[in-house]
Amino acid sequence: MMTYEKAHEASSTPAHEAALKSTHERYITVTVNGEEHRRMVATNLTLLEFLRDELFLKGTKEGCNEGECGACTVLLDGRPVNSCLVLAAEADGKTVMTVEGLAQNGRLHPLQEAFAELGAVQCGYCIPGMLMTAVAIIERHPTPTDAEIHKGIEGNLCRCAGYARIAHAIKVAAEAMSPS
Ligand code: FES
Repeated sequence: MMTYEKAHEASSTPAHEAALKSTHERYITVTVNGEEHRRMVATNLTLLEFLRDELFLKGTKEGCNEGECGACTVLLDGRPVNSCLVLAAEADGKTVMTVEGLAQNGRLHPLQEAFAELGAVQCGYCIPGMLMTAVAIIERHPTPTDAEIHKGIEGNLCRCAGYARIAHAIKVAAEAMSPS
């Protein structure tokens, strides 16, 4: 009679291992902050893990890791998502923007300037996600009302409770970015 170990050994041929591996990995092409990346990734790898551990973009933060805090917010094809809830494989063929993509040509984004100048940053942990959400708010509402800002950031938790200054900074940045 074949023991469990023997049966396992018999099924673990190199061809079997390769076939098993191919079902657990996927080749993806993702454009992150304007740069195209091609990688073989595990099918259960999250976009958050891909950004931090594969591309070493550590600006995107891991908080709750279950879609509650918003610390991991990035823009996926321009829409804010909790990257801890998105698989890297789901980003195949898409564009991602992280906080590292905000500054251009050595100049901070107006949102980054406003957050820094108006004291909207305390411990800073929520700020990358907050900034990416703010980009999406201004994209949708170029001159956002207080209500639109508060609604927009309701999925981003700030443990320092600096919401008033954050909302003010978003409003000031929107005004600075307004063409008129
Ligand atoms: Fe993704 Fe909290 S780490 S929502």
